[in-house]
Amino acid sequence: MTIFTQKTCDSCRKAVKWLRDNSIPFEEIPIREHPPTLPELSLALKSANGDIRKLFNTSGQDYRALKLKDSLPTMTGAEALALLAANGNLIKRPFLIKGDLTLTGFDPQKWSDSLPPAPCPLTSVLPLDKFPPLNHVPPAMPISDYANAFVCDLVAYEPGKPIEETARELGLDPASIIKVASNENPLGPSPLAKKAMAAAIDQAHIYPDGGGYKLRSAIAQKLGFDISSIVLGNGSNEIIELLCHTFLNRDAELIAAKHAFVVYKLMATLFGAKYVEVDDPDFIHDLHAMADAITENTRLVFVANPNNPTGTQVTQEAIDRLIDRLPPHVIAVFDEAYFEFLDTPPDVLKHVHAGKNVVVLRTCSKIHGLAALRIGYGIAPKPIADLLQKARQPFNTNAMAQAAALAALDDADHIEKTKAVNREGLAFYEAAFKERGMKYVPSFANFILVEVGEGDRVFRDMLKQGVIVRAMSGYKLPDWVRISIGTPRENQRALEVLDAVR
Ligand SMILES: Cc1ncc(COP(=O)(O)O)c(C=O)c1O
Repeated sequence: MTIFTQKTCDSCRKAVKWLRDNSIPFEEIPIREHPPTLPELSLALKSANGDIRKLFNTSGQDYRALKLKDSLPTMTGAEALALLAANGNLIKRPFLIKGDLTLTGFDPQKWSDSLPPAPCPLTSVLPLDKFPPLNHVPPAMPISDYANAFVCDLVAYEPGKPIEETARELGLDPASIIKVASNENPLGPSPLAKKAMAAAIDQAHIYPDGGGYKLRSAIAQKLGFDISSIVLGNGSNEIIELLCHTFLNRDAELIAAKHAFVVYKLMATLFGAKYVEVDDPDFIHDLHAMADAITENTRLVFVANPNNPTGTQVTQEAIDRLIDRLPPHVIAVFDEAYFEFLDTPPDVLKHVHAGKNVVVLRTCSKIHGLAALRIGYGIAPKPIADLLQKARQPFNTNAMAQAAALAALDDADHIEKTKAVNREGLAFYEAAFKERGMKYVPSFANFILVEVGEGDRVFRDMLKQGVIVRAMSGYKLPDWVRISIGTPRENQRALEVLDAVR
């Protein structure tokens, strides 16, 4: 028999193991993803001497959406197989091997009865010998047809608009533009980090310490962990990606809140996993409902605390209860990008210490002012951290970023100044919005979400006046904009411009 195998597919691995364990002879046809493409199917058919009964596909998706480009319109899997049958391949008993390894025989009669109304009439079938030959790539297909469908369908992440680009587009002086769109530190980088970066320049010709020994040791010591629990990332975004690399596949699910940081959804989609969105009344993650949403396929539950773009946080009690309810196959990830801004932060690290399936993410992009260097870290029990280390590139964080982060961690002065500016800015905006009767979400982070009516228009009109805020339609909040807290002067200007355009 011939089995389609996809490298990263769990079901495929299990099926292959099952076949081996049961001494069933088989041949593997590697495919890029389920369902097999026509050339892959054609190759498999050839090696099965055209006998469809000998073909096995482990995915529950069957051959759905198989495209016979240029010759036939898109077909469902059932149609494709019916088509093959009509070409002399008797479909007596095609099989599907499900993830749990039960072999399911299909009743061919029932199966053909369940054929959907054919957009592709069986009269227009291609004779088997007209199938593209071995290794033949159908001509003139756009390159996107060869890409994973879930990547093509993604809407690329839109970061806050850079100052230079805005200046160029609008013919403005870059110095006159203020960017309050990406939750950066308005005071700039930690001065200690700047010194460390300058010192690191002379070593720029040497590869960085791939293991990040000094920085990981310092973080471990500061937080009371062994170095083996610390994983460095090219921004904490990379740790999100490493978690998805390690634990997601097309059968897996990732749970997050309705208005959670959008990168979780992006990543889940990129890995072909199911993204499960849980309602967040009053913009606050409902951890109880998120625990209720866990299924046997759930692998990751993401809690951004405080969350971006809402600025809301969850309580210690809610956190503890969620962690108590985690089944052994699920990891709770607490994204604490804005942790340092909290006056009374929750303690999630105690659960990591206790060896629970909990990962905490932190970043140097926010309070330390090192967003451009791309450095963040994860704290995880050793068995999880070990897996994440395997999933990363050898030199994922650069030497300058490591040196800067190491210095910034201890820059208490910069941290305190940043917190003070932020506290003042939040109070300024809250008072201003209250005075104007505008709806806003009380924030625990370094930005604030405010309802302005037409968010996209307000964003554009503010941009024209050199103030870059963030429109929120990508977060299903078309009436809102998010404003990062700036210096007092920047806050004043942003408010004046907001008043002028709304
Ligand atoms: C909640 C949250 N997590 C993670 C990140 C990513 O930060 P980094 O710059 O470390 O990749 C951000 C950045 O905006 C964020 O808001």
